[in-house]
Amino acid sequence: MRLAMKSAAFALVITLMAGCTGKNSRNEIDHQVEALLSKMTLHEKIGQMTQYSYGGEKDSIPREVIEQVEKGEIGSFLNIHEVGVSNKLQSLAVNNSRLHIPLLIARDVIHGFRTMFPVPLGQAASWNTLLVQKAARISAIEASAEGIRWTFAPMLDVAHDPRWGRIAESCGEDPYLISKLGVAMIRGYQSDNLADSTALAACGKHFVGYGAAEQGIDYNTTWIPEVLLRDLYLVPFREGVKNGLATIMSAFNDLNGIPASGNPFTLRQVLRKEWNFDGVVVSDYTAMLEMINHGYCTDEKEVAYKAIMAGVDMEMVSTTYSKYLEELVKEKKVPEKRIDDAVRRILKLKFKLGLFRNAYTAPGRNKVDLQPDFLATAQELATQSLVLLKNENHALPLNRNIRSIAVIGPLADSPADLMGCNVADGQAKDSRTPLFALRQSCEPSVRINYAQGLKTSRSKETTGFSEALDAARRSDVVVLFLGEEAILSGEARSRAFLDLPGAQEDLVREVAKAGKPMVFVIMAGRPLVFNTITPLAQSVIYSFHPGIMGGPAIADILLGKSVPSGKLPVSFPRTVGQVPIYYNHMNTGRPPTEQSKDIPTGTALDPVGYTAYQLDVSYTPEYPFGYGLSYTTFSYGDLKLSSQTLMKSDSLVITTSLANTGVFDGTEIAQLYIRDIAASVTQPVKELKGFQRLNLKRGQKVTVRFVLYPEDLAMHNDKMQWVTEPGKFFVWIGGSSDSGLKGEFEYR
Ligand code: BGC
Repeated sequence: MRLAMKSAAFALVITLMAGCTGKNSRNEIDHQVEALLSKMTLHEKIGQMTQYSYGGEKDSIPREVIEQVEKGEIGSFLNIHEVGVSNKLQSLAVNNSRLHIPLLIARDVIHGFRTMFPVPLGQAASWNTLLVQKAARISAIEASAEGIRWTFAPMLDVAHDPRWGRIAESCGEDPYLISKLGVAMIRGYQSDNLADSTALAACGKHFVGYGAAEQGIDYNTTWIPEVLLRDLYLVPFREGVKNGLATIMSAFNDLNGIPASGNPFTLRQVLRKEWNFDGVVVSDYTAMLEMINHGYCTDEKEVAYKAIMAGVDMEMVSTTYSKYLEELVKEKKVPEKRIDDAVRRILKLKFKLGLFRNAYTAPGRNKVDLQPDFLATAQELATQSLVLLKNENHALPLNRNIRSIAVIGPLADSPADLMGCNVADGQAKDSRTPLFALRQSCEPSVRINYAQGLKTSRSKETTGFSEALDAARRSDVVVLFLGEEAILSGEARSRAFLDLPGAQEDLVREVAKAGKPMVFVIMAGRPLVFNTITPLAQSVIYSFHPGIMGGPAIADILLGKSVPSGKLPVSFPRTVGQVPIYYNHMNTGRPPTEQSKDIPTGTALDPVGYTAYQLDVSYTPEYPFGYGLSYTTFSYGDLKLSSQTLMKSDSLVITTSLANTGVFDGTEIAQLYIRDIAASVTQPVKELKGFQRLNLKRGQKVTVRFVLYPEDLAMHNDKMQWVTEPGKFFVWIGGSSDSGLKGEFEYR
């Protein structure tokens, strides 16, 4: 154990307080924090509240940054990704600053560090909390080896809009699913004990409403009524806080006229007062400063004032705190207590992470680059993230007698695109592409005829088409790898069109001329619209960018070495004009009728009645939330409720039988939905309240059992009280949000 403290007395205090077990109790940490806080100048306190971005090398740290660290003017860094740099900065802070306070080193570890997993939306399609947790654990092990102890993940935003590029980073549209997966990620990053040297403090982001940006344009305005905020957008954050989430990031967006990074209602009232959150709140990247652009602050001093009064503890990148907080305290505009509270939380986190015992990371510790079991987990998660959307005549898995496969398309062999957006430290060279994997996995006798067709997903240059058609003609089956490049999703990557970009549809039509059976594998960071070409394919697999092991995962599914099990974490629109479309919507006074169902997209029909639908498209999505096929088939039967009434402080057991009725062993994700039929505030037509991944051998039949408690039925009433109102409820168990066996019960 190294204590690089200069003051022997101080070192002794810390050692005694830390104890020998390596685990600090809450009480001990509180004492340590208070002892340290009492020694700090106001200037040093504000230093702790300042986060600086440095992405350079160990030997080129600018002089002024070194000086700032030594003067205790920086509490945290982001964008450091290498142990040499993290150790160097830690040594400047621990050895040369007056109070020897270690730094908190942060990084966007979003869906992997070196081992890149599927983008979060893909992970969400697995509905597999344990596997998602494992992926986060691996990411934490890898990142912490470089001195990183704080990740800006998980993203807990509810996303209804596929135009929004950051939908890729989300877990989709449903607050229950996002909560379960978000908590799994938090557990994976933080482990059981933040003091574990491989633990990362997690950061729930972006608080709050960021996913509701108008037009799906990143950073755009959000207007969210309080009841919707509480029953939808806040839910995953609330669950994160309940489950030990260490930090939260305040968002960029203007929320109901008050920017989220200076919003006393969400940050102070909800987060601190109602939820008792005692972790750190960090602003998003210059989000505080941007309150000037929002028209909420006239100058930087006002930014600092509004952010601290709202409850932002640490300022990311912009410098309004370091410039103006001291002045604001001296002028008695900001009580010093506000600063103390913020610093207390920051120091507490540093103690919890064990940074005061040891701020350094041994170079080479956990040097785990591309460890085989990490890659195996990445492949498993990629496999489970794939969603089979269509499989006519059991075209997949590919027939064993196939002698040749045409592999065509801009995404068949594009290593960087496989990783998806938000890849800080992953390396394209680690990616195993579908082409590579098919060549490896197919029998030597099977010929792979590869043609790229288009250079990139956006390309309109058709000179590669003839080669593609030729490859198709020479093959028994055609697998087309279509979609969207990685750089088209992620931050600031909003789209107005959701179609396959470039000349991809033309490529498909050209290749179809060969008359060979076609399979589409569509890779993207968002739901895309491709229904004009879907009829040309017998099978369609959707793959949110699947990570570096995406290729082998896809090859195994195509070849039947594994069976698809993913289900959509988000509804797929038929056309961009349906956006936002999500399963848990309200009913309206005039719900659409069967007559207005299945209107072919783009055909303006004669109006049929006065109901809530669009004349030129079915009101249903192309693929609903929770949907996904398997190579086998599942059948639900015999829905039973343990009682027709659920009483206060009691529970209700709902069961069905589930049979694997096909010829493959497979996995079904059984889903439980409810609907509150009438309430004092109208409720969604369906709400997910439970799910289970169930492995069934072919022919096997099991009983699926869910339990509902009164709090599962709770909602916010118009006084914003969290209540379960008596009344009737529908309940469904099934394999997607648009199917299922239905029952009814009453809550009394
Ligand atoms: C993003 C955050 C991210 C931060 C730090 C911002 O632009 O919105 O999600 O954590 O940058 O890189």
